[in-house]
Amino acid sequence: MIQFFRVSKAFGANTALADINLRIRKGEFVFITGPSGAGKTTLLRLIFGAEQPTEGQILINGINLNKISSTKLDLLRRKIGFVFQDFKLLARKTVLQNVAIALEVTSERHAIIRKKTHQMLRAVGLETKEQSHPLQLSGGEQQRVAIARAMIGDPLILLADEPTGNLDPDITREIMILFRSINLKGTTVVIATHNRELLRNTEQRIIALIKGKIVHQ
Ligand SMILES: Nc1ncnc2c1ncn2[C@@H]1O[C@H](COP(=O)(O)OP(=O)(O)O)[C@@H](O)[C@H]1O
Ligand SMILES: [Mg+2]
Repeated sequence: MIQFFRVSKAFGANTALADINLRIRKGEFVFITGPSGAGKTTLLRLIFGAEQPTEGQILINGINLNKISSTKLDLLRRKIGFVFQDFKLLARKTVLQNVAIALEVTSERHAIIRKKTHQMLRAVGLETKEQSHPLQLSGGEQQRVAIARAMIGDPLILLADEPTGNLDPDITREIMILFRSINLKGTTVVIATHNRELLRNTEQRIIALIKGKIVHQ
């Protein structure tokens, strides 16, 4: 469960989010939408604890992010997967290594990490690309590596920032099916997008931001 109580975030004189009240239940699938600059990325980064609110409180599973130590925040973050807009893949590492890296901070044994990584790459249809490097992949394949890395720690929450940004419609559809299947296994999914095509005919909840304010939820 994600809760925002009167959350504002300013960068200097620039208000990115203003007085946000929000509740996203466990297992929900939610789109955060709005034009560029509306505050979508900032909202995801606040949930991830990568930014602190200027005002207000954010609770993740009942834990107040303002009140926990950085050690506890690190532990909580391991339960949150983040698919970054620019993927943030390591160019010098293979696909396998890029995904496995998310488990290397845990105390899992090497053999277990390998097994889970193989499974995850199979789930996103990249089993034949394990030894490739990111730059040898298409945009859609890189996106799937980023999703695999975000998913491998079995997160309670998956955050994705413009995950279909530069992808063609067929690949976009595949990626959305992937998010839906992840969600059906119980993970709360929050996707930020300015792509209105993605939202057409969707049955999912849409939270709309304009200039840092929620105009629909
Ligand atoms: N690190 C930052 N420093 C200064 N301003 C920022 C920073 N991050 C975001 N902003 C500003 O906050 C507003 C919301 O940005 P953002 O959350 O990236 O919007 P969106 O993802 O909807 O395009 C914008 O005006 C942006 O310029
Ligand atoms: Mg953004």
